[in-house]
Amino acid sequence: MGFQDERPGRLRRAPENFLTNEEIQAVQAGRRSFMRKAFVAASAAMGAPVLARAASGDSAIMNLPPWSTSLGQPVAARPYGLPSRYESNLVRRESPGLTRVGGSSVSFAPLQGLFGIITPSGLHFERHHQGWHDVDPGKHRLMINGLVKTQAVFTMDDLLRLPAVSRIHFIECGANTGMEWGNVAVPTVQYSHGMLSCSEFTGVPLRDLLEQCGADFKKGRYVLAEGADGSSMTRTIPMELIESGEVLVAYGQNGEMLRPENGYPLRLVVPGVQGVSWVKWLRRIEVGDKPWGAKDEAVHYVDLMPDGTHRQYSSTQEAKSVITSPSGGQILLAKGFYNITGLAWSGRGKIKQVDVSIDGGINWRRARLELPVLSKALTRFNVDWVWDGKPAILQSRAMDESGYVQPSYGQLRAVRGSKSIYHNNAIQSWKVLESGEVGNVQVL
Ligand code: MTE
Repeated sequence: MGFQDERPGRLRRAPENFLTNEEIQAVQAGRRSFMRKAFVAASAAMGAPVLARAASGDSAIMNLPPWSTSLGQPVAARPYGLPSRYESNLVRRESPGLTRVGGSSVSFAPLQGLFGIITPSGLHFERHHQGWHDVDPGKHRLMINGLVKTQAVFTMDDLLRLPAVSRIHFIECGANTGMEWGNVAVPTVQYSHGMLSCSEFTGVPLRDLLEQCGADFKKGRYVLAEGADGSSMTRTIPMELIESGEVLVAYGQNGEMLRPENGYPLRLVVPGVQGVSWVKWLRRIEVGDKPWGAKDEAVHYVDLMPDGTHRQYSSTQEAKSVITSPSGGQILLAKGFYNITGLAWSGRGKIKQVDVSIDGGINWRRARLELPVLSKALTRFNVDWVWDGKPAILQSRAMDESGYVQPSYGQLRAVRGSKSIYHNNAIQSWKVLESGEVGNVQVL
């Protein structure tokens, strides 16, 4: 997908002037006990941090602004609501490091500026192999064929009449954090982890449609999903995922119809599985008795292992987490209290625990998980932190309900080598300099 194929050595400096290997080691060695004390003491002492300033002398509170002394706009000014103009910086972005080839493109979600676990639909990341279309729902069809008693073609009207469910799930592209395999250290969390979003999806369980068509569940252990765009996007989905009732033929996203960029009017939702299997503009489901080995399963989305072989069908997104604030590109303006916040997720179920370190992985403290903690959805975590103005390395480490613990880069590379593009779930490190600048660094 056009990632730069750079393979520099370990702990390469980011383009900005950040810490060297030696400096990281110094932070880790010299500050062990001090940081442990500071970290533990921080939240106890700070209870509820109050950062407000004295009211007297602040003209913003002393004088009435124009919006308090004039008429506001009427309701009809915006039939469809938009964010404030003051939030115009919070947008999806294309990475300058990635080439756009024809319609093949990717935009990253601005994780650093989002709250909670739901990604606003307009900020949901996009990954198109051949661009997106605003498909006419009146002309869109879904066909079900293969090992079924009755082949069927559904219109959108047909599908909208069927019993539906709504479920909150994350979607992560298998190539998310792909550039970090090469230690490229992209500057912000938007570019390092932004092929990740979480929405409430509404649709019909694929199992119900297959039952309606009399699918042969005994012989037909696989399903092929095909998209209607020009990318020939076809993916094999194992039947056991469909039998669980989790896989949805979805038309809804966050309470309204899907956005065109995200597959309007119909997409597959395959919870816990890498994004490429969430086929957009879904037009055909075929039941078969073996995996298809389509191009996006044989050539792309396979893991190049250290011995030169390829690992195929490694579709489940393993437990992963990232601190979204403070994160790369941000600046801490002054010493004192900060809420360290981030996201954790697992393709194998619920997040059980997230630990946070401020000293590059020597000491860990358990983060508070915000409710709800849902299966195969993003989970928001928070930790209180009082920054003492000294360099720090912030990390988060997720554990899911299966007991799996997110690996360090050292652990991941020991098994997977460094030549892969896909399925990088290593612990992310953000280095904080004395100047307050935050940047990306890899700690093994
Ligand atoms: N489906 C079709 N038909 N065409 C595509 O290009 N891209 C896939 C998947 N489904 C794609 C597709 C990939 S690689 C990903 S990561 C997700 O869609 C991205 O979904 P999103 O654009 O809604 O974030």
